[in-house]
Amino acid sequence: MRVLVTGGLGFIGSHTVVELYKAGHEAIIVDNLCNSKKAVLGRLEKITGVLPKFYEIDCCDYEKLKPVFANEKIDAIIHFAGLKAVGESCVKPLEYYENNLISALTVARLMREFKVKNLVFSSSATVYGLTDHAPVTEEDPVTSAINPYGETKVMIERILEDIQKAEPWMNIALLRYFNPIGGHASGLLGEDPNGIPNNLMPYITQVAIGKREKLHVFGDNYPTPDGTGIRDYIHVVDLATGHVATLKKLETNPGLVVYNLGTGKGTSVFEMIDAFEKATGVKIPYVVDAPRPGDLAVSYAKTDKAERELGWKAEKTVLDACADAYHFQKNNPNGIE
Ligand code: NAD
Ligand code: UD1
Repeated sequence: MRVLVTGGLGFIGSHTVVELYKAGHEAIIVDNLCNSKKAVLGRLEKITGVLPKFYEIDCCDYEKLKPVFANEKIDAIIHFAGLKAVGESCVKPLEYYENNLISALTVARLMREFKVKNLVFSSSATVYGLTDHAPVTEEDPVTSAINPYGETKVMIERILEDIQKAEPWMNIALLRYFNPIGGHASGLLGEDPNGIPNNLMPYITQVAIGKREKLHVFGDNYPTPDGTGIRDYIHVVDLATGHVATLKKLETNPGLVVYNLGTGKGTSVFEMIDAFEKATGVKIPYVVDAPRPGDLAVSYAKTDKAERELGWKAEKTVLDACADAYHFQKNNPNGIE
């Protein structure tokens, strides 16, 4: 398939491009570089042996994106492009709603106009909101998220459901990612956040290379066995192969489908620190701080549906992810330059 990958130079997008080529597909990347570097392209070429076609375009810009649809014979779209920092979304809600909603609407409009049959949308476990149980299944209610970022995912899911109802020839997959971590085994691709990392794994890797003094554990008094928050950490390469499996599913014309992409296993913050130390031999100093507002005690996926219907499941361990995340961070102490 010829796959248009929006946000294809970002963390999950770049790993997915690698797996697309591995599976015999071709990737056409659109990215406006608002949270990624053009140098990722060269790294993709190093890994895959192919320099993917790249357009530096904002997906909100209908006039600029239209020629890509007109000139490239696109069979499927994977729409990763979006802003994703929860804290920032509370400070700049307008920018988040504008970028995430308008880019998704523009892509959907062009999909309809150019009769592209297949779309995969990057959603998030955040659509399950402040749920008090785990694991969560795809049938759990999607009501309202906890922050503007999450709301954009809830809204886009609803919009795409309505569009698919009106255009039954479209196949649309809503993929709800849990916590992607890790990087490519080559050390060439990985997570490259701007400024102070918000998420656990990039913070740990920056402590590991001495860029930050110590990890701040957000609360150790949750109702979990060791008191720290539990999450479903999925290796980004497993997440990427989940997209390849989803494209195969879309080829069977299933209409609208929804899948959790996680491992089905929970890991606490303390367990993650242990795993990292085991995988890398590097000690992670930490202090326990107050809980972060809006954090859940426990979040992990029920993964049976993806396993059954996509024939896919996560293969890599948290130890693999720690080793790969550290490898990338060590090779790229200041991110991708
Ligand atoms: P990322 O920031 O690394 O990648 C997103 C890419 O999209 C970046 O390269 C950015 O430059 C680009 N982009 C943003 N807005 C754009 C626009 N209007 N036009 C063109 N390009 C644009 O983030 P990621 O971690 O790779 O996440 C990819 C997708 O998955 C996002 O939609 C995110 O919300 C979703 N998601 C991520 C996580 C996670 O933990 N990383 C979890 C759940 C869902
Ligand atoms: C966060 C977002 C979520 C988003 C996801 C992926 C919030 C409230 N939620 O999820 O919407 O989809 O990132 O981008 O921001 N932790 C620490 N110290 C740190 C960082 C994190 O102890 O420096 C703890 C957290 O309290 C949590 C766990 O580590 O228990 C994982 O945190 P994080 O990586 O930020 O992911 P989520 O909170 O699951």
